[in-house]
Amino acid sequence: MKFKGRDIISIKDFTRQEIDYILKIAGEMEPVAKSGSDILHGKLLATLFFEPSTRTRLSFESAMHKLGGSAIGFAEAEITSVKKGENLADTVRVVENYADVIALRHPLEGAARLAAEFAKVPIINAGSGAEEHPTQALLDLYTVWKELGRIDGVNIALVGDLRYGRTVHSLAYALSLYDVKLHLVSPDSLRMRREVLDTIKERIKVVEKRTIEEILPRLDVLYMTRIQKERFPDAAEYAKVKGSYKVDLRLLEDAKKDLIILHPLPRIDEIAAEVDATSHARYFQQVWNGIVTRIALLALILGATE
Ligand code: NCD
Repeated sequence: MKFKGRDIISIKDFTRQEIDYILKIAGEMEPVAKSGSDILHGKLLATLFFEPSTRTRLSFESAMHKLGGSAIGFAEAEITSVKKGENLADTVRVVENYADVIALRHPLEGAARLAAEFAKVPIINAGSGAEEHPTQALLDLYTVWKELGRIDGVNIALVGDLRYGRTVHSLAYALSLYDVKLHLVSPDSLRMRREVLDTIKERIKVVEKRTIEEILPRLDVLYMTRIQKERFPDAAEYAKVKGSYKVDLRLLEDAKKDLIILHPLPRIDEIAAEVDATSHARYFQQVWNGIVTRIALLALILGATE
């Protein structure tokens, strides 16, 4: 298995063996996340974020620092000057002179793939429009594995915006490499993208539903997502589905005792604050697992571990 110098563009580029290996290395990196190390001393990460982010960018930068490396980059909330194609290619060909690896978040689907074609250094896709968010999928899997001790055999529901949510696209692809039962819960207009559905249905059993209630009692993992307001073509369409799902204590009365609830964050109103104190809530642990997983990825890509 070779990771050194490799791009992370789509979760589809990885086999189950490779994903399992990344999760294993992530487990071994927990002490580095706690106490730091210097295995990437002298190495530099550039974070190029053309879209808003709190977690992902800080998580990558924190991971790099904990490995003894350093991080440079920019984070712009405004994307008005972003143009297709050439601009990004040029940016990447400039930045590769400063950095050993680039984490890129961009509003256009295909942006990370394009950047990787031009860059001499590895590109990590930190979110490409509504398309994919592969490192989030890896940290989600790591969380399930760490919390439940297994991924095979798990009964899991992805809930919310399955159309515009990139995290659920990557996660669904990744889960289809395991023996899971997958429930997809969304309003009709936000059903899972066709291309994702077609691919995962060839591998695992997938059931589509409109409400959480009808499947909740059987679930081991409830993965909630935000309705991606910024990706809707118009405000009226968003208004129709806004607030479609809300997990609160009353709903959870029907849940298994050891159900875990995940969310890539930020949450808006899909999980009530009262749920935070329950034993089901794992979305803040997920943030920690994000650091651990990104430490593993950076160490693997930059050849500091094998
Ligand atoms: C997600 C994203 O950016 O796609 N956030 C994240 O990276 N943790 C989810 C979201 O924005 O809803």
